Amino acid sequence: MITPQEPPASAFPFEPYRIKMVEAIRPTTREERECVLEEARFNLFKVPSEFVTIDLLTDSGTAAMSDNQWSAMMRGDEAYAGSRSFKRFERAVRALTGYANVMPTHQGRAAEHLLFGLLAKAGDTVPNNCHFDTTRANLENLGVIAVDCVGDCAYEPDRACPFKGNMDLGRLERALDGGRVPFVLITVTNNSGGGQPVSLRNLRAVSALLRSRGIPFFIDACRFAENAWFIREREHPDRSVRDLVFEMFSLADGCLMSAKKDGLVNIGGFFACNDPDLAERFKQKMVLTEGFPDYGGLAGRDLEAIAVGLHEAVEESFLAHRVGQVRHLAERLHGQGIPIVRPPGGHAVFIDAKKFLPHIPASEFPGQALACALYLEGGIRSCEIGSLMFSRKGESPRLELVRLAIPSRVYTTSHLDFVAECAARVFNRRNDLDGLRLTNDPPYLRHFTAELAAVR
Ligand code: F0G
Repeated sequence: MITPQEPPASAFPFEPYRIKMVEAIRPTTREERECVLEEARFNLFKVPSEFVTIDLLTDSGTAAMSDNQWSAMMRGDEAYAGSRSFKRFERAVRALTGYANVMPTHQGRAAEHLLFGLLAKAGDTVPNNCHFDTTRANLENLGVIAVDCVGDCAYEPDRACPFKGNMDLGRLERALDGGRVPFVLITVTNNSGGGQPVSLRNLRAVSALLRSRGIPFFIDACRFAENAWFIREREHPDRSVRDLVFEMFSLADGCLMSAKKDGLVNIGGFFACNDPDLAERFKQKMVLTEGFPDYGGLAGRDLEAIAVGLHEAVEESFLAHRVGQVRHLAERLHGQGIPIVRPPGGHAVFIDAKKFLPHIPASEFPGQALACALYLEGGIRSCEIGSLMFSRKGESPRLELVRLAIPSRVYTTSHLDFVAECAARVFNRRNDLDGLRLTNDPPYLRHFTAELAAVR
């Protein structure tokens, strides 16, 4: 009798799944898109999804769930307390991370908000390789200084380092010496810096440094499986993804997780940690806003879907295809001369908007101008990660990127080829593109709600 085993990655040069249900894509005309963009005030978060052809705004909460996840949802135990679904969810997280205490939340930022409120206060410093927008905003909202300590390589889109997400240990030490640091975060993969991985060696070094100083260390773990895939590919080809995932988590005291990414679900997150006192305080606080600790703002069926999704996310055939899709799009774009962050990350291709549109200054949001041009060209929705997302008080971030995030198991290679063709057309007439100016500048996370207008 033959027992089915995890096939080697090369066994799947195509999608490692069959499609059981489809969702129609409605074609739109250029005139329609022009109207929609004007009405959305050049903010793609305000564009109704029915007017989007290929939606690469985010890989968060946009994955296609598997037949196993959908069937697990039918088992959802909706008891307010002590539900079997919570137990299954807890077992799945414990098996993957080794953390004893598991608290569900409705998504990643809810876990951030609760944890940061428990541990940090105004004037503290919290280092990270790069803070993502919600992490930074939740910290800054408490008066905390959020410091990015990623290595220089992360700021050089053209330089192909294998682990561009690594923390620079010198920078981290300076941050530890220079302020009151209640805890340190590391984001795997490093979303704001191009979805780039952190090596196991770097995680070990950060962990050793923080343990020697008694400072708690948490992983912002949204894309932990993709990170482990890169570690396997570039650092430890002899080890399994699951084994690497377990070691990654063992190096920290806990993790914040948006299950909307590598949990392969449409909603959900969690905080998990070893310290029972911290877990108890977290639970007491979460009752105020998230719900009872056994469901944390989620339905029992959501917990079931996460339990299965976390397992599927570490399957090597899934990861080989996922990272392979990103690589395929990256190669198509690069082959057409389009400047991108290299090597490509795990969940997205990041276009270097500074290089794509050198004639548009940071004050006129080159990334957003490019994202709008891609939308006009082919109904492609992407996300600016640059001056609109991050600049404050006239200071621009070092990178002006446009992220083409690929939702898991949603698009096929021909969809991605279409994206590459549209991007090439925009690239060929890049000199005709103009910048944008803000007409409404909200105080927090402004890229979500800002309004803009053409400069000319
Ligand atoms: N940390 C990182 C690294 C993230 O990428 C995100 C979300 C969060 C935390 C917050 O999680 O959305 O569940 O509250 N990133 C999404 C994105 C929004 O498009 O990259 P959440």
